[in-house]
Amino acid sequence: MADNASVPRPHHRPTTKAVIPAAGLGTRFLPATKAVPKELLPVVDKPALQYIVEEATTAGITDVLLVTSRGKTSMVDHFDRRPDLEALLEAKGDQRRLDAIRHPSELAAIHSSRQDEPKGLGHAVLCAAAHVGDEAFAVMLGDDLIDERDPLLAEMLSVQAERGGIVLGLIEVPREHINRYGSVAIEPVDAPETPLFTTVKITEMVEKPSPDEAPSNLAIIGRYILPPEIFDAIRKTEPGAGGEIQLTDAMARLASEGTAVHGVVFRGRRYDTGDRGDYLKAVVQIACDRADLGPEFRQWLVDFVRSELDASVVPGSDGGSE
Ligand code: G1P
Repeated sequence: MADNASVPRPHHRPTTKAVIPAAGLGTRFLPATKAVPKELLPVVDKPALQYIVEEATTAGITDVLLVTSRGKTSMVDHFDRRPDLEALLEAKGDQRRLDAIRHPSELAAIHSSRQDEPKGLGHAVLCAAAHVGDEAFAVMLGDDLIDERDPLLAEMLSVQAERGGIVLGLIEVPREHINRYGSVAIEPVDAPETPLFTTVKITEMVEKPSPDEAPSNLAIIGRYILPPEIFDAIRKTEPGAGGEIQLTDAMARLASEGTAVHGVVFRGRRYDTGDRGDYLKAVVQIACDRADLGPEFRQWLVDFVRSELDASVVPGSDGGSE
């Protein structure tokens, strides 16, 4: 008989559900997002949201709940079949595009729930309560894209399977940027460290602190594994930073009641699509990496940057000469 440590705890079930809060108005991208949900803006040739769902399914998630709002049903359509388009592409013998449009509908069971008012991330997660039921689940925020070669969510799920409670994705940020994030205080734990991941115990969480008040420069990124008890904690949470019901405050409440909180410090490839500048960088980085587009695009980029540098050299100065 194997030793008990290798036997899964009796109450542990694998985490199969992910919740993607996607009810926001996308004001930072107006006018592009007047009629098109921010989550469907293409990152190269795929909507940002599809990257997130692919990341979830790669980690073993089979059921995805999109928390949406009015005017955003096209997000759900993206993961539906398109028999008319499929027939057209089939008749043309265009197998590559046929596969590309079928793929999103084959990823996972996609569900949606409405957030009727923008009352904060905690409130958005609460909209998933009935669907999630009594099991641990992942929350994935659409502004963070994690490179498929650096599987953060799978690592977080395995930490959760072993230790239970809450598991958060963390990155180090410059201290002057910590006020854009939830910030945490940590203690080391006895766990193997890899170049990409370090597991830590979280002892404090603060939503969007000022840099001088932040417990550290470790920021919560948009990947969470949460126990179902979070829903009751959110119900008891008063509006916090920005007048919104904050997930960080509900997690801090659960922690104060004894729920273990761990973090996985991530040092892998992450692309932020949250604002226009970061979105542009993400598109360029991902395009450079693509086998089909990358080689030509990189060469163009090198030539473009060279011509920009040449143009910025003041005539008559010796800048740029060797
Ligand atoms: C939310 C969370 C914050 C977290 C961030 C990650 O903030 O409230 O704790 O650090 O996502 O992107 P938001 O970006 O929605 O303001």
